[in-house]
Amino acid sequence: MAEEIRFDGRVAVVTGAGGGLGRAHALLLASRGAKVVVNDLGGAVNGTGSGTTPAENVCEEIRAQGGEAVPNFSSVATWEGAQEIIKTAVDNFGKVDILINNAGILRDKSMLKMDIEDWNIVIAVHLSGTFFCTKAALPIMRENNYGRIISTASAAGLYGNFGQTNYGAAKMGIAGLMNTVKLEGAKYNIKANTLVPIAGTRLTATVMPPQVVEKLKPEYVSPVVAYLASEQCELSGAILTAGAGYFSRAAMVEGPGVFFDDPESVTPEDIAAKLSEITSLEGAKEYDSATAQTGYALSHVKLD
Ligand code: NAI
Repeated sequence: MAEEIRFDGRVAVVTGAGGGLGRAHALLLASRGAKVVVNDLGGAVNGTGSGTTPAENVCEEIRAQGGEAVPNFSSVATWEGAQEIIKTAVDNFGKVDILINNAGILRDKSMLKMDIEDWNIVIAVHLSGTFFCTKAALPIMRENNYGRIISTASAAGLYGNFGQTNYGAAKMGIAGLMNTVKLEGAKYNIKANTLVPIAGTRLTATVMPPQVVEKLKPEYVSPVVAYLASEQCELSGAILTAGAGYFSRAAMVEGPGVFFDDPESVTPEDIAAKLSEITSLEGAKEYDSATAQTGYALSHVKLD
């Protein structure tokens, strides 16, 4: 049997935890001993409005099962709000060990019909929100030489989805952000990973039939989040997908490519002629940093 994963003495912040996936993550961490800040702005799916009830209710649920939790109602989408969220953890529990960037909204429209405001607010909540909360938590994690950051991306970002240029860009941006947090956090024992969930929540209820929503419980995603939040976690910089009992890893890979010895002589016709070799992913590799990828790309360059 693997060692039991517990969070005794650990402090977790879960953003957007008033419902859906965030609530499920918060309940699981709290049931295993974590003290949890349940953040939620309490607005509508499209990011309008606010309220205290969702975060308060989840704190009540956690206390009812014998756990410890405090609510926070700030928006992740501003630097001030993010600082408030992390301050709630420090004021009540003395630190933050685990940050789950989960808050999210939708403003789906094809790009032709999308208003600039629909772009700005989605980028603000998802991408800036993840940056702000992570930036606010990092100094404390560095001080304690311990941190586990899980940020929420989406298949819409990794693979594209009609009507979601704003959301997809923000979600892929989050994966990119975590690639660098992984590098900057490494020497402080801060591990940063990205979750790509599939779950029936109010966010997906509009696009999925009720019987599908019922099968895709957010609780089915949370075990992988709890693993990534644990001391036992061996991963950093990973993108893990989860939903309905499916767990997997997605990755950015690059094929071995083609090297032309004389870059000056390469013509568009040479590209056309070699296209299948250039685009082949046979023997493709992952790189753990831009430096490693650039090192390979420039490996044939001879300096005078
Ligand atoms: P949800 O709507 O139930 O949960 C999102 C929560 O974030 C809501 O409770 C909302 O009030 C809160 N929130 C929104 N803006 C906020 C802000 N500015 N500050 C603080 N809280 C805010 O939806 P769900 O599905 O649980 O989504 C959780 C995360 O998972 C989101 O980031 C979403 O984009 C992502 N996701 C969900 C998928 C799914 O299949 N449900 C698929 C891929 C990604």
